[in-house]
Amino acid sequence: MTTLTIRRPDDWHLHLRDGAMLEGVVGHTSAHFARAIVMPNLVPPVLTVADAEAYAARIVAALPEGHAFKPLMTLYLTETTDPDDVAAGFASGKVAAVKLYPAGATTNSQSGVRDIEKVYSVLERMAEIGMPLCVHGEVTDPTIDIFDREAVFIERVLAPLRARLPGLRVVMEHVTTREGVDYVMSQDSGMGATITTHHLIINRNAILAGGIRPHYYCLPVAKREVHRLALRKAATSGDRRFFLGTDSAPHTDPLKESACGCAGIFSSINTMSCLAHVFEEEGALDRLEAFCSLNGPAFYRMAPNEERMTLKRRDEPVAYPEKIDTGAGPLTVFDPMFPIHWEVD
Ligand code: NCD
Ligand code: ZN
Repeated sequence: MTTLTIRRPDDWHLHLRDGAMLEGVVGHTSAHFARAIVMPNLVPPVLTVADAEAYAARIVAALPEGHAFKPLMTLYLTETTDPDDVAAGFASGKVAAVKLYPAGATTNSQSGVRDIEKVYSVLERMAEIGMPLCVHGEVTDPTIDIFDREAVFIERVLAPLRARLPGLRVVMEHVTTREGVDYVMSQDSGMGATITTHHLIINRNAILAGGIRPHYYCLPVAKREVHRLALRKAATSGDRRFFLGTDSAPHTDPLKESACGCAGIFSSINTMSCLAHVFEEEGALDRLEAFCSLNGPAFYRMAPNEERMTLKRRDEPVAYPEKIDTGAGPLTVFDPMFPIHWEVD
């Protein structure tokens, strides 16, 4: 048996939802992760610092007994977001970042930004105070192919934004393409990127080849194999600009297995096991800690966790449930399609 001990990890992009689903999933994150950047795309969205405070209290109330977990709250940027509210929330530590969703890009993004000019006063203020902007980096132009939406976003939105506000700290969330990786690598340390577990494991064949598999559908959608390989290289490189954001995004089975299924993959339970497998395959187990536990806090200017996590590699595969029951309904767990041998101790 091989063991690996790392600092306790954090998840820099997570969907916890609310109500019964929150109750059903939060313990799977807090069992492993010390902190998570919690996405604000609830219905209705988390718009103000007061909304974020109330949501943080609901998350903490839903934690299983004995779990130590700190939700790092985000605000959902709209064309009417108040720069003073954002700045006060950041100064008090009640919010850690602001999230930019292009309107219509993904789940519950209808209230997102249509005209970026309208949010520049908020972005300028954030640049002044060093507050990170998390970006869902896809254009929504219906004439742009869904597999190209990230690359086009970089060209049309992200590069001009960085040129106009070079001091703004930006996280390109769930980067999925070689173009995204190359762009981040061309930038200074004010630019970071999260990478999900599943985008290191699946390419678009998982969704489409041999039948349509809704549980592998997420946004941004998984791309060609060359992109998966570029993501693996970036994640396992140790480069400080890349860190883990699982984008674990629970939707119940009836909502996924539908004529128009929701986007999102639920991976909180087995993410650390899957990542150990990936890093072992890449001969980079010594860089798992950088990706999961060091680079994220460095970007967010927070101290890394002091506690440790030990992963053990067993000869026999570890059994994870195919689905879990939540008060909101059954929820399918990400299946990496390989036997998992790593287990969190
Ligand atoms: C997320 C969700 O369901 O909230 N879905 C997803 O496929 N990742 C939204 C998002 O992060 O785009
Ligand atoms: Zn997400």
